[in-house]
Amino acid sequence: MNMSSSNIEYLLTAGDPSEVDALFAEARRLRDEVYGRRVFLRGLVEVSNHCLNNCLYCGIRRDMRCQRYRLTKEQILDCCRTGYGLVFRSFVLQGGEDAWMTDERVCDIVRSVKREFPDCAVTLSLGERGYESFARLREAGVDRYLLRHETADAGHYALLHPQEMSFDHRMQCLLDLRRLGFQVGCGFMVGSPGQTVETLKKDLAFIDEFRPEMVGIGPFIPAAGTPFENEPAGSVELTLRLLAIIRIIHPHVLLPATTALGTLHPTGRERAIRAGANVVMPNLSPQDTRALYSIYDNKLSTGSEAAETVADIRARMQAIGMEMPVDRGDFCLKQTP
Ligand code: 5AD
Repeated sequence: MNMSSSNIEYLLTAGDPSEVDALFAEARRLRDEVYGRRVFLRGLVEVSNHCLNNCLYCGIRRDMRCQRYRLTKEQILDCCRTGYGLVFRSFVLQGGEDAWMTDERVCDIVRSVKREFPDCAVTLSLGERGYESFARLREAGVDRYLLRHETADAGHYALLHPQEMSFDHRMQCLLDLRRLGFQVGCGFMVGSPGQTVETLKKDLAFIDEFRPEMVGIGPFIPAAGTPFENEPAGSVELTLRLLAIIRIIHPHVLLPATTALGTLHPTGRERAIRAGANVVMPNLSPQDTRALYSIYDNKLSTGSEAAETVADIRARMQAIGMEMPVDRGDFCLKQTP
């Protein structure tokens, strides 16, 4: 399928449903060619909602007067134990940029998880850090790191973030992670304030060039108490088209059907899989802290988002012809024919 700049623009805005169906079919075909009809599970553990950043969109930004928590190593290990029993072989430890999460503490947590679950992949998503810090985490056994770039346009980045945050530093982090041998995930919100077809084209060009192992995208959802609380949510439709386009420009990428999509639409995740996604990330955080990790309003954390209902997710995936293997779900380097 033609992925020239002008055709991408056409596909993002086309009104003809048969065009969109053809786009999704092509994305599914490429996914199935590389990974088969398989959806990979990641267990998400939200380790801390303390954050020293003040991103204008985020419900756990520094200025929010919300109850803060952080999990102990034992709590984190307990989440992983629950997950392991539920067939998870990949854990994502995600949190705000929390100064308490020193290299020493994070490395200790990672080593403990790796010791107890040597057959599992450990992914961190703890925000920006320095090269030396990333190097220590890698040394401790971290396999993957997720750091959404948020937007590949410096002007748009400045609109979403306070002045003290730097677009260049964020991009540098992604390069550092790549150089250190992590499987790297970038990504962005769909429909964030100030986003245009032009900034989206830059996001896609960046993905095409950087070739990350993972890309996380989901609709922007306003969070009460943030500067963007009255902004409209991003479009589910546009998110699905972008998922398909990303699959087509980078067929090997691991592409989650994100919680934000599931939050805005009851079958959002199934629709994402239909558009070429191949990862789901149910929440393994302790029940009593889930509500506190409220990066946006009405975030799904019960029902199908709870790990306990992994059987329900499997049934939903089977209903659309997808299996959920017991597997780390590593990036696959196999060439498409
Ligand atoms: N709506 C949707 N996604 C959000 N994120 C943060 N705030 C919001 C919001 N209001 C996303 C960001 C961040 C990831 C952890 O969650 O892209 O990188």
